[in-house]
Amino acid sequence: MGRADTHLHTEYSGFNKLGVMKFPESVTQPERQVDRMRELGMDVMAITDHDEIAGAFIAERYARNFDDIEVIVGEEVTTADGEVIGLFLNEKIPYGLPVEETIDIIRSQGGLAIAPHPFSMHAPGLQERILDLDIDGFEIVNGGHPDLYANMFATLVMDRYPGRWAEMSGSDAHSIYTSGYNWTEFSGSTAEDFRRAVLSKSTIAVGKPAPVFGQVQWSVDVVLGGQKLLFQSLLGRLKNVPHDHLIEKINSITDLKKATAIFAGMLYVVPPLSFIATVLSTSYLKKTAKAMTTWIPERLVDIDEIIKLVDARGGPGAGGGELGEIAAAVAKMEECRGHVPGMGRL
Ligand SMILES: [Fe+2]
Repeated sequence: MGRADTHLHTEYSGFNKLGVMKFPESVTQPERQVDRMRELGMDVMAITDHDEIAGAFIAERYARNFDDIEVIVGEEVTTADGEVIGLFLNEKIPYGLPVEETIDIIRSQGGLAIAPHPFSMHAPGLQERILDLDIDGFEIVNGGHPDLYANMFATLVMDRYPGRWAEMSGSDAHSIYTSGYNWTEFSGSTAEDFRRAVLSKSTIAVGKPAPVFGQVQWSVDVVLGGQKLLFQSLLGRLKNVPHDHLIEKINSITDLKKATAIFAGMLYVVPPLSFIATVLSTSYLKKTAKAMTTWIPERLVDIDEIIKLVDARGGPGAGGGELGEIAAAVAKMEECRGHVPGMGRL
């Protein structure tokens, strides 16, 4: 069986926001992700940066130097409805479009459409919308979801309808520290074998999310890598690289902001603080997962109802407008989240 990790990020993934603080999604170079995947013995990998494809092309070119790994060019696209991953792409896909339109563009490039972390409680998953979309598969293991709900619920839905979707397991690694704990197995060893396995829904999702320690290493990696770039930029030694939004952004902020960010970073990397921050967010997610778990039987009944309606009108992606039942189920999920203390709406 071949092994694939088809959900990986690099420094081309841009920024995320935590309150008022903006931080890089990743400071890992595309080449390093390829090296890491080779060390781990993966046969196939995909770079799926947020709304960017340049890093994937760099990895793909670099991987041509080796005969033990193949890189699929992918993108994790932010749509108006949640995130969707396109694999086997040739061109960058614009973000912010309705998810149906985004999937049409993926298809027009001959690509595969995968829903990452569909039932996430903290990332933009597509939730029940996956039921009526022309997707090839969805993640039942996402490495960035150590909580007890998102992956478990996705597995329940997948197992309820065998052969309907390809099961996927992606590390969602934003550094080299959170990969290697989970991957997708497929018959064969090449990227084309992987594509065939997804299309025939014969993939096997393996592993579990990275341990909390890996998440701490990632956050420290981001801070240290960010500080290095900020420092170089402060000295005027950081050159812009086409499509590298991280470097572009760092060069565009004022020197005062750069210095402040370096100082804030120094406070964060003091071990107790970074560890406490990670443990606190993990325990918070645990609480949320517990609240969501009580609603599982009811949510599965709703999903069965929606699948019946979807099939009655010709299957996923048959169109004819969005089913009101899906909108109602998503609204119900958001309401449920809204009742969890401290949890905002998506
Ligand atoms: Fe991701």
